[in-house]
Amino acid sequence: RNQELEQLLQAHEWSSKLYHYLLKNTEYGKPAMEYLKSRGFTDKAIDTFQIGYAPARWDTLVQFLDKRSFELEAMEKGGLLSSRQDGSGFVDRFRDRVIFPLHNRSGKVIAFAGRVLGDGQPKYLNSPESKLFTKSRVLYNLHQAKNEIRKTGQVVLFEGYGDVISAWEAGVHNGVATMGTALTESHAAILRGMAEEVLVCYDGDSAGQAAALKSIPILEGAGFFQVKIALLSEGLDPDEFIQKYGAERFRHQVLDGAVSSVKFRLIYLRKNHILLEEDGKVAYIKEAMPIIAALSSPSEREIYLKELSADLQVSFDSLKQECNELRTVMQ
Ligand code: UTP
Ligand code: MN
Ligand code: MN
Ligand code: MN
Ligand code: MN
Repeated sequence: RNQELEQLLQAHEWSSKLYHYLLKNTEYGKPAMEYLKSRGFTDKAIDTFQIGYAPARWDTLVQFLDKRSFELEAMEKGGLLSSRQDGSGFVDRFRDRVIFPLHNRSGKVIAFAGRVLGDGQPKYLNSPESKLFTKSRVLYNLHQAKNEIRKTGQVVLFEGYGDVISAWEAGVHNGVATMGTALTESHAAILRGMAEEVLVCYDGDSAGQAAALKSIPILEGAGFFQVKIALLSEGLDPDEFIQKYGAERFRHQVLDGAVSSVKFRLIYLRKNHILLEEDGKVAYIKEAMPIIAALSSPSEREIYLKELSADLQVSFDSLKQECNELRTVMQ
């Protein structure tokens, strides 16, 4: 049983090396290399993240693994191969895709994500869950980021592979990503074991912002002292922002400009109300107040109430009174 795991790890390691080699050193890899270059991936990034290419053939890995005496059925169970429909053997799972290897915390390859070159569905094909790979526990790039996370006490949480990679190139070495699935309590607990502060840097589109909102109770529940959220303009994701505006602006505007979780929740709520109308103001205050009233620190409450007062042109005193009344009810 242990030997089965070892075999599967070995197969992932070698497959990853093969894909990386095919991308960098063969004719097969040329279109994928051009695609990566067109997106701004550097040779250094391609090496650091061991990016590869799975050719548009059915038997690249089948042949490769078979020659090395791996048991193909075990490789299918482990997610590297697929069964033929008629049951007559195996074919490659990943074909004509850019390959991003996923590593466990100690740096062993445990799964792959394959991206189509350009448009196509699914955009990313991931390894299925296996003895090696549990999506709810794996964080992309944790093996390379863990030292920096511990050193700085901060982790930056992204949505996607490209975001982690572009941020890495922009000098942000404490970035990780979940694997397309939502952030889980396990993810949060793993990260909390390494850092006190988390900076959520999800995509600027509505899906990303909604996911950021959902992440707040999970991260606070895991015991992070500080949860900050980065705001991305124009619906861009971090990778797109960096390609468009550069590393400097990403670090100083997006990361340094990240807001507290309370502020983010208020900003998020504010978007749903028309504040030029009295109804809209009243409704916004009604939804914002429980968030502020729940803060245990009086000075923190004061800061947000003052902002609200200035923003809506409602007196600080009436807001404070409302807040205090709500606090009595909440206790
Ligand atoms: P996005 O749709 O934001 O993709 O999904 P992306 O990371 O910006 O991808 P690029 O830049 O177009 O290459 C965020 C993450 O969700 C997962 C992947 O982990 C992706 O990085 N995802 C997305 C999937 O697993 N499958 C999909 O089909 C799409
Ligand atoms: Mn290399
Ligand atoms: Mn997205
Ligand atoms: Mn994205
Ligand atoms: Mn992207």
